[in-house]
Amino acid sequence: MKPHFVLFAALYAAFAAGPVFAQQTALRDAAAPRALLMGAAADSNEFGEPDRLQEPDYAATLGTQYSMLEPENAMKWATIHPEQNTYDFGPGDNLVAFAQAHGMKVRGHNLLWYSFNPAWLTTLAQTATPAQMAQVLEDHINTVVGHYKGKVFAWDVVNEAISDSATGTGTGSDIRDSIWYNQPGIGTTGDGFIEQAFRWAHAADPNALLFYNDYNIEQPGAKFNAVYNMVKDLLSRGTPINGVGIQMHIPMSGYPSSDGLAQVIQQFGALGLQVHITEMDVRLAVDSNGQASAADLQTQAQTYQRILTVCLQNPACTAFQTWGFTDKYSWIPGSYPGQGAALPFDANYQPKPAVAAMLDALENTPPSINTAGIVNAASYKGGAVSPGEIVTLFQVNYGPSALTVAQPQNGQFPDNIGGAQVFFGSTPAPLIYAEAGVVSAVAPFEIAGSQQVSVYYKYNSLQSATVTLPVAPSAPAIFAANSTGSGAGAILNQDNSLNSADNPVPADGQHVIQVFGTGGGMLATTPSDGSLAAPGLNDTTQDVTATIGGKDATVTYHGAAPGLISGLLQVNVQVPAGLAPGPQPLVITVGGVPSQDGITVAVE
Ligand code: G3I
Repeated sequence: MKPHFVLFAALYAAFAAGPVFAQQTALRDAAAPRALLMGAAADSNEFGEPDRLQEPDYAATLGTQYSMLEPENAMKWATIHPEQNTYDFGPGDNLVAFAQAHGMKVRGHNLLWYSFNPAWLTTLAQTATPAQMAQVLEDHINTVVGHYKGKVFAWDVVNEAISDSATGTGTGSDIRDSIWYNQPGIGTTGDGFIEQAFRWAHAADPNALLFYNDYNIEQPGAKFNAVYNMVKDLLSRGTPINGVGIQMHIPMSGYPSSDGLAQVIQQFGALGLQVHITEMDVRLAVDSNGQASAADLQTQAQTYQRILTVCLQNPACTAFQTWGFTDKYSWIPGSYPGQGAALPFDANYQPKPAVAAMLDALENTPPSINTAGIVNAASYKGGAVSPGEIVTLFQVNYGPSALTVAQPQNGQFPDNIGGAQVFFGSTPAPLIYAEAGVVSAVAPFEIAGSQQVSVYYKYNSLQSATVTLPVAPSAPAIFAANSTGSGAGAILNQDNSLNSADNPVPADGQHVIQVFGTGGGMLATTPSDGSLAAPGLNDTTQDVTATIGGKDATVTYHGAAPGLISGLLQVNVQVPAGLAPGPQPLVITVGGVPSQDGITVAVE
């Protein structure tokens, strides 16, 4: 073949392969290193409608782009409980099956709402007693949550129970009138029906995360105050509530402000709650063909990027979901005449500018860090850090998608796991494991003698802000056998078997237990950061004492644990005689600082 034919053949082959577009990363893949669920509401064949999941482009986009789905209507009362003695789990089961086939989590919606209730229920409510309504509600929650137990990881237990004219108290007239509250209600007062719904849901699936979901709470204001005060009140009574859903149905008006959204996320986070953005869509003016202007699509993209960035900057925000994903199926045009094009993909399932904008946020927002999230790896208590202390950094929400555990090379733990790094001052810390959201590091021994130390986190090229931690000579804590920070300690009996209720240590004044913790501070011979402790004994430089069951116990060794990572503290303690059998409180004190309460050793 003459040379010029070779060139042609090569070019033809290229063209024959069709146009080559840069493959845009899927939203779920860009979100995975963020420990952020990327969700979309979806429908199947509710009310006999054609099953959207059988539509190839619908299924392909949903399964490829998202790591979570939420039935838009399939699990609402009118759909799933159409008659008093009839449940229709079909559409919901279809969506759950689709999610399971595509490695997606399912968010359930919703168990109690003032709207979209079936005719039999609204009719019943006109004559039923509160006790009868309570029974109906309990049966529904038990049946639906029970049916999806282990398949739905989070529920919108209660949806939109706060009035749009709320003053901020979160009770009384701030609560929206409804068949569940006061028409006739279920026999409770104030937010009691909400508490009861959460308790029934928790009983039906103790592992499901339970959310309260509402709109117009995206920035501070009376309705936000009402929801905040209500969930705070529920928490004060021990209600099993795990989070708040912020719906985020918004125009392009700039509502909510980024600072306002950050503030409400942080306030819910400060209550120990997660926040899910649950129903985002950004409605635009459209022409008769449902088309928005290019300029508006760009502004919409900036809005999606802005809201997602605030979520990424605030670790309490753990899911970001749009209310649908294609403009082909959206509630907006029917509810807002003249508006539409509200979702990230157009009616032909092509990504709109919003998708690239969200990918940019996911790939380029610096990881977060905050002092409250940096805790002792054994006790999970924050505060001062000590040289060699094994710490866990929570909320550094950008890291390896899957848990990655370091393998020491030549007896040395690495200071980089999959691109994750933690710096104390300018010193990269040895790492034990890393994944999106959680990193385990060992505070360098170099911090000894400092009053405080700056800490920052890097993932690949993106660096977090810097925070400052106080430095203390010791911050002792004992590992729990179940890694919870409390309960049976990580303790070996004299024969190197694990101490436990089934394997207690004799309280005879002779047996010695080996107790493992961290935060023991400096050692007689300062090891290199991240090294495996050398054979032989290397005592802590500070005095170490111990008590078991409140009795002084003789410490026979305190220092490095040979063969294990430097920073792990081993304390050998002789168990005093005369202790009652069972779990006895164990406290190790280093340099006058005691370990955490709640660790026990099993004695007989
Ligand atoms: O076509 C069926 C009809 O056959 C059936 O008899 C009837 C029962 O009421 O429902 C009809 O379907 C429609 C349904 O969507 C399925 O498409 C309903 O007419 C219609 O009211 C319903 O609207 C849904 C609305 O909630 C009320 O449930 C929207 O799709 C859904 O996007 C919207 O979602 C809500 C969230 O749940 C809560 N937050 C606000 C959000 C928007 O309103």
